[in-house]
Amino acid sequence: MNGVNRVALIGTGFVGSSYAFAMLNQGITEELVLIDLNKEKSEGDAMDLNHGLPFAPSPTKIWFGDYSDCKDADLVVITAGANQKPGETRLDLVDKNMKVFQSIVSQVMASGFNGIFLVATNPVDILTYATWKFSGLPKERIIGSGTILDTARFRYLLGEYFQVDARNVHAYIIGEHGDTELPVWSHADIGGRSVLDLVNERSEYKQADLENIFTNVRDAAYHIIQRKGATYYGIAMGLARLTKAILQNENAVLTVSAYLDGQYGQHNIYIGVPAIVNRNGIREVIELKLTEEERAKFSHSANVLKQVLDSFFH
Ligand code: 2OP
Repeated sequence: MNGVNRVALIGTGFVGSSYAFAMLNQGITEELVLIDLNKEKSEGDAMDLNHGLPFAPSPTKIWFGDYSDCKDADLVVITAGANQKPGETRLDLVDKNMKVFQSIVSQVMASGFNGIFLVATNPVDILTYATWKFSGLPKERIIGSGTILDTARFRYLLGEYFQVDARNVHAYIIGEHGDTELPVWSHADIGGRSVLDLVNERSEYKQADLENIFTNVRDAAYHIIQRKGATYYGIAMGLARLTKAILQNENAVLTVSAYLDGQYGQHNIYIGVPAIVNRNGIREVIELKLTEEERAKFSHSANVLKQVLDSFFH
């Protein structure tokens, strides 16, 4: 660390370059180094992004670099790896991306890096755990993007349904960032009023609509991938939000992939839960009081992830 905020981004594909663009537009960091196997691409991105500097809210030093630049980074963000093709699940990517991560994390650590990792590559919960194992850093300094995007999709759709600004909807998607995730209806509220109460009390709102909203959240990535081949703007903005919470020591509550050490009855796993995020990483996992049904769904989601973890880490 060198006295100014430095973020090292590994992977300048669709997600990485959209993240860099969001970072520049919001003036979140003082230094942003782009690292990619495809040097020409990251060099081109650095040039292109620098041409936006006269329009940015604050100066950002952006360059294309290599792993040695991670030494002085406060945060290393990993978006590198294969992404889903139509019909593939996130978990289908695990073999390919686990290998990529072994190589990336060891090169980052060889630089002398001693900051925070933010992982976005899928399957994100598994690769966040892998980053913790491969790096040897404390568990609270490894953060996965988890269900930050699913939670955003959920808030957006609930906001549309109830005609309220998405930023004033408080609701969480937890569990795997993937097919077994679940909505926490028991803690979904708008302006202090429970969403479930609103549906019970007002005839214009229907339980079936809520179920549809969740299905659309869970399957959103499939719908987008079918249409445009990949998803990137939403996750890029979620990663920028997380970066800001970290660098500005916000103690923000965000749903991330965090290490569980007994919370929700789970151990030795990274999975999407609300957590308090600050300059030191994950300060605290927030343990919501779940209904029995929610708890059973969460355990199922955790078990699916554990089965995959068991095949890599014994
Ligand atoms: C998403 O949910 C594919 O994980 C990515 O958009």
